[in-house]
Amino acid sequence: MCGIVGFIGQNEAKEFIIRGLKKLEYRGYDSWGMALKEKDKLKIIKETGKIGSVDERKILSGAQIAIGHTRWATHGAVTSANAHPHTDCQGQIAVVHNGIINNYQTIKEALLKKGHYFSSETDTEVIPHLVEEYLKSGLSFLEAAKKALKELDGNYAVCIISQNENQILAAANGCPLVIGKDKNNFYISSDILALQDKVSQIIFLKDGHLAQIEKEIQIFNLKTDKLTKINFQPMDKIKKDEGLGSFKHFLFKEINEQPAILAKIAQMETKEIETNAALIRNSFGTFMVACGTAYHAGLVGEYFFAQNAKMHLNLSLASEFPAFKGFLTDKTLLLAISQSGETADVLEAVKSAKTKSVKVLSILNSPHSTLGRLSDVMMTTPAGPEIAVLSTKAFTAQVAVLFLLSRAINSDLVKARKILESASAAIAKSLSEKNIQKIKHLAQKIKNTQHLFAIGRGLNFPTALEAALKIKEVSYIHAEGFAGGELKHGTIALIEEGVPCLVFVGNDQEKDEILSNAEEIKARGGYIIGIAPENHQIFDEYLPVEDLPAVSPILNIIPMQVLAYFLALEKGLDPDKPRNLAKSVTVKYPILHRVGVRKW
Ligand code: AGP
Repeated sequence: MCGIVGFIGQNEAKEFIIRGLKKLEYRGYDSWGMALKEKDKLKIIKETGKIGSVDERKILSGAQIAIGHTRWATHGAVTSANAHPHTDCQGQIAVVHNGIINNYQTIKEALLKKGHYFSSETDTEVIPHLVEEYLKSGLSFLEAAKKALKELDGNYAVCIISQNENQILAAANGCPLVIGKDKNNFYISSDILALQDKVSQIIFLKDGHLAQIEKEIQIFNLKTDKLTKINFQPMDKIKKDEGLGSFKHFLFKEINEQPAILAKIAQMETKEIETNAALIRNSFGTFMVACGTAYHAGLVGEYFFAQNAKMHLNLSLASEFPAFKGFLTDKTLLLAISQSGETADVLEAVKSAKTKSVKVLSILNSPHSTLGRLSDVMMTTPAGPEIAVLSTKAFTAQVAVLFLLSRAINSDLVKARKILESASAAIAKSLSEKNIQKIKHLAQKIKNTQHLFAIGRGLNFPTALEAALKIKEVSYIHAEGFAGGELKHGTIALIEEGVPCLVFVGNDQEKDEILSNAEEIKARGGYIIGIAPENHQIFDEYLPVEDLPAVSPILNIIPMQVLAYFLALEKGLDPDKPRNLAKSVTVKYPILHRVGVRKW
């Protein structure tokens, strides 16, 4: 996933372009770049690495039209040549792009035969050359761009500028693009976050639409080539990302926001919860789709519905959903869980379900997202923008909402709310300075381990999976979570002297068995790190949590989030932007890439 920005107006462009790229850096940070329309040329600046602390005063340009890009590499290595913007042969047209062009090799071959030459390995670079080719055939900039975009197979959000035009073109197809305006300027961004505090009105560009912006804006439907009605909406009070505040990293800030978020969810509107619980109760089968951490939340949800509502919800990894969509009927409900609402696999699952008239309920963190727009019913958690790549507050918020839904099935909301209120207080307690220091010390002790295991049973099987994901994605330690009952079915072969193993022990029916799993690991030299309401002699390290069996995953994951944070710091890694990752996986690889791609 990448982040793109664009600006056209009476002010200088560079302030918004730089600020916007910094706001969108969470979408990808392998490289960054911008194109600024100077009087007689396009000034192109591009560098590998994070835009980080680039100072706009160093960008010597009075340009009032510009585009920018922060990259998560899909096609082509992380080099400045592959950084966006990309231009045509003459350097007169510049393009920034988020998405994947499946047929770029075919297009590139045809353009090479026409004498075009390329300077990157990216799929994106075919766009400016296509526009150049159609300009040469006598089309206007707008018509040349329309024709070029219609040739693309795949998804995209693009901004296109030309040194010979005082306009900016923006188009979207399967990737988000939002346009904002104030009195004198237009602003374009992949995410509304870059527009907050900047614009008074916004419009989300619909799929298959192209905006032409000069002094005014007009939007074309690329299929019909007709102008579409433009309805700017007031920039509602979107959850402001208040920046870091007193924290050094978004990850630790967002971990610490969880008590307040849980308290808010405990007060969620009864009508919304009961109405949506009824949707689940009355559906002829409910399927859930999600990826990564959201999938782990969904897995906790499966246990919640089994325990609290005696219902079986069918959870599937969104990427594996095609195998199961045959079971969908127009009486089925699809529950999509996603922090960003832009995860390609989730969107694909939802779109395929909608072709069968399936009702879509989503639990998400970003109401303005594509998933939000595709959903029939949306439950927005009050977690607010989550900037760190690691999903923490979104996870516990999703789990809390699923808990309320599962308890509402049998009209048991009053008690459920009280449990979440206790969970809020319990999280605050587990984030005490004393506990934080204890976890920091543990991170120092285990930071050099190559492997780490996590086991749990019942509700804490998903907790083990989520703990392992948190640790591996930010510390790069190979961490594996699995059900305690699976230990002797293979993984026990990997237990060696001193290998740390996280063991989640609740005061529940699984307690004795998970403790005996811990014994089996200990007997083979494993270093047992117990996360439990009380200490046990088997533990080599003990991380205390409050005793709330009904929602133990919410409490048990907190010390794991903190452990992951300190492991990253201990290893000198960026806790907010781990290598190779992006905040939301908005692209899928086309089949072509699975069979290898010819090197140009
Ligand atoms: C979580 O820490 C990961 N960054 C990742 O697994 C994430 O949960 C996953 O990509 C799903 O994202 P979504 O919730 O925005 O759909």
